[in-house]
Amino acid sequence: MQKRVARPKKKMSFKGRDVISIRDFNKQEILHVLRTAEKMEKNRKPLLKGKILATLFFEPSTRTRLSFESAMHRLGGRVIGFADPSVSSTAKGESLPDSIKIVEGYADVIVIRHPLEGAARVAAEAASVPVINGGDGANQHPTQTFLDLYTIKKTKGKLSGLKVGFLGDLKYGRTVHSLAHALSYFGVEMYFISPESLRMPDDDLYELKQKGVKYHEVKDLKKVIGKLDVLYATRIQKERFPDPLEYKKVKDAYILDRSLLKGVKKDLKILHPLPRVNEINYNIDDTPHAAYFGQARNGVPVRQALLALVLGVEA
Ligand code: CP
Repeated sequence: MQKRVARPKKKMSFKGRDVISIRDFNKQEILHVLRTAEKMEKNRKPLLKGKILATLFFEPSTRTRLSFESAMHRLGGRVIGFADPSVSSTAKGESLPDSIKIVEGYADVIVIRHPLEGAARVAAEAASVPVINGGDGANQHPTQTFLDLYTIKKTKGKLSGLKVGFLGDLKYGRTVHSLAHALSYFGVEMYFISPESLRMPDDDLYELKQKGVKYHEVKDLKKVIGKLDVLYATRIQKERFPDPLEYKKVKDAYILDRSLLKGVKKDLKILHPLPRVNEINYNIDDTPHAAYFGQARNGVPVRQALLALVLGVEA
């Protein structure tokens, strides 16, 4: 009988890679990013000294832009960029690929947020340096997904076998689409809780079904909140509604407050990508269930990990 020879494991390579969609990463790669983020929390070496990050934000942001900038500073690198496209030459009609071809001459890595779906991919195709998607329309927000996974793992001790509820705007909420895809690798049972008009898109549900993910669609949060290990609440994305009247109909569809927490699991963790508007009452903030501020803080080590990895530096 022929002796079986173990094939050498394919080495994971992140150097020079773009981070455009969570779909571009397999389970092992996702876990590698999370392990690297853990290391970033433990050591403070200036791994990216001499490197420059450009942050190009064509849409408002607090967490994504500032945590990327903080991450780069913590790693000893420097940051250039803009938070308002009206002060860039986009206002004079410069195309996105042209802007990117200019910025790649000034920076080693680019983070872009843009209102148009697919804009980050267009930027990546134009650039010779790594491009990281900081959110493109209602499409993807992969670095948020990495930090969501990191927060779930940190607060629950694991990713596998959890019951995770997604609440609110599941149609336009890009973080939900990315996170549901990533959690499909980990045997998670999913509860999609939304008004009819903001259901999870059929394409995403079809994909989850194909992958054998057990999921439920419900409108009444009270019916399922007691089963959940994690509740991922989202803002109703006002800016993405074509009709303001449709937004008015659903804007306060779910408001989490302490009264809803009676009967939940003791270790239920509530996450939210933030910013919140009305969907989580401030009276939840000082309960042990509130994990959203810690989640936002986790953006720094996770983005340190991604910057270091795409620039070819191991922690
Ligand atoms: N979670 C998130 O993307 O927040 P910002 O819009 O403030 O970046």
